[in-house]
Amino acid sequence: RVFAVVVVAAGSGSRLGYGLPKAQVPVAGKELLRWALEGVKATGLASRLIVTVPAGDTALTAIAEEFGALAVTGGATRAESVVAALNAINRAPAQGGMSDSDPDAVLVHDCARCFTPVEAFHAVAQALESGEKAVIPVVPVVDTVKSVDSDEYVSGTPARSQLRAVQTPQGFDLSTLLAAYAKASQQGLAESITDDAMLAETMGIPVLCVAGSEDSFKITTRLDLALARALYEKENS
Ligand code: C5P
Repeated sequence: RVFAVVVVAAGSGSRLGYGLPKAQVPVAGKELLRWALEGVKATGLASRLIVTVPAGDTALTAIAEEFGALAVTGGATRAESVVAALNAINRAPAQGGMSDSDPDAVLVHDCARCFTPVEAFHAVAQALESGEKAVIPVVPVVDTVKSVDSDEYVSGTPARSQLRAVQTPQGFDLSTLLAAYAKASQQGLAESITDDAMLAETMGIPVLCVAGSEDSFKITTRLDLALARALYEKENS
C-alpha cells in the first residue's frame, strides 16, 4: 500500500480560548502542528503529506512546508477540510525516500491529537495492508454514557462494554473514502459528521477497530492543554 497522510489543522481553537489558531499553540516551545508532523514523520508511512490550515495562515503553511507537506485551506467544518485535502492528494509532492506512485490508502489524522504514538499509526496501517478498507483506533470508554432526548431526559444506557472512544489516525482504502465523501457531499456535508468512519458506515463498509492509545488524547479544552504541558514540558526541559 502507498499511504497519503492528511493532517487536519484548520480548526479555530475557539474552545481552547488561547487567542491563536489551535495548531499554532505551543507545548514545550513547539507548535501543536510541529508535534503532529514530527509524529507522522516518525512513522515512516507517509508518501504524501497534506495539511489543512485556516485561510491565510502563513505561520502554519510555513511549518507544513518545512515537512515537505502540501498546505491547503480548510473548510468551515472538519468534513469540508477533509474533502479539500483528499482533492489535493495528487498535487502533494512525494516525500523524500518514499514511493512516488499514486497513493491507494489514506490516513486522516487530527492535528489536535499531536502526541499519537507511532504504534497507533502502524496498527491502522497494518490492518489496511491486510485488506481492510476502513480502520479506526479506539480505547475503552471509562464513563457510563447515556443517550438523551431533546428535553434532556435519558433515553437509554448502552452497555459500556460495547462502547469505544474513537481516535485518529483513521485509515481507509483511498477510493473507498473518496466514494463515501462524494456520496455525502451530494447530500451536503453536515456539522454532524464528526469523523470519517461515519461515512464508511453509512455505505455499509465494515469498519475495524484496532488499539488506540491514551497518549492520543485530543487537545480541545484548557484542561487538555494543561495535561499536555504537564506531560511534555517536564520531559523536555
Ligand atoms: O473541531 P474538532 O475538535 O472536531 O476538530 C478536530 C480536528 O479537525 C482538529 O485538528 C482541527 O484543526 C480540524 N478541523 C479542520 N477544519 C475545520 C474544523 C476542524 O481541519 N473546519
